[in-house]
Amino acid sequence: MQSDSPKPTTKECLLGLCASLRTIHIDPLEKKWITFSLLIIGLFVGIITLDALFHGVNPPSKVETIDSARLHLSEEFAEDKLGVSVDGAGNVIVRMVAGRYAFMPKHISVPAGTPLTFRWVSMDVLHGVHIPMTNMSTMIVPGYVAEVTTTFPTPGEYPLICNEYCGLGHNHMWSNISVVAKENWSALATVKGGSNNE
Ligand code: CUA
Repeated sequence: MQSDSPKPTTKECLLGLCASLRTIHIDPLEKKWITFSLLIIGLFVGIITLDALFHGVNPPSKVETIDSARLHLSEEFAEDKLGVSVDGAGNVIVRMVAGRYAFMPKHISVPAGTPLTFRWVSMDVLHGVHIPMTNMSTMIVPGYVAEVTTTFPTPGEYPLICNEYCGLGHNHMWSNISVVAKENWSALATVKGGSNNE
């Protein structure tokens, strides 16, 4: 009985594949389009990489679960705990609840040039939140806490809008953020006892 020939190695397989690819006739115009498509893919991957490395645009990596049906009874997201607060270490934490069709609270004031930790939860379906002209954008998946830390360098009035289709009222789902100069915000927070929920 004749023995089988030895199995080709991975390298031989790749060389074989390259050789057979070279025998395929590709029209010059097709070649141009293939090159063009690969360049576009390279450009997009490059933009994502640069944004991640230099602009801090990253997907949230933390997995923290919460019972969406019991938010009002939770330690952290009960109605009186929502809005902006400063913890013992001086970190500014913003807690907001998304629900069809509003973000609660409806308006918040935060200090400019200060790291802000946003903690978002949904009380019903999938929502998204985006603050135009900033890198603040995340999905709010029911059952999970979405946490994003960011800094707004420029004082001003910013809209906060839902960017995941969540139902018929989706395009009415928005809120407002006032970013105020750090010194003015501290005064505001002192007056209201460390929290300026509205
Ligand atoms: Cu909430 Cu769209």
